[in-house]
Amino acid sequence: MTSGWCRVGASDEVDDRQPRRFRLEAADVLIARVEGVLHAVDNICTHAFACLHEGRRRGVRIICPLHGASFDLRTGAVLGQPATEPLKCYAVREVDGSIEILLPPGA
Ligand code: FES
Repeated sequence: MTSGWCRVGASDEVDDRQPRRFRLEAADVLIARVEGVLHAVDNICTHAFACLHEGRRRGVRIICPLHGASFDLRTGAVLGQPATEPLKCYAVREVDGSIEILLPPGA
């Protein structure tokens, strides 16, 4: 299983509008740019099973397309029910025009 810093795409693939999904061997990740800074969270809603990249973004909030739970893109915190569990967050960085996330061992 892959761990450590993994390149997921180019920096210009994520803008300040809609977050972007990146599927890796070990994770399904949603990466958003908030005021120029990248943030990475799990792409799967913690309430049931829905892909958050299909939801709507409102500021720092991503709204689940299935039942409307919302999460803070910066922290993964629940901002609106029915979800009660936060999203997992990943460390993310930009290096030489690429986006990299840190996958922990066993991710
Ligand atoms: S699956 Fe996301 S709110 Fe229910």
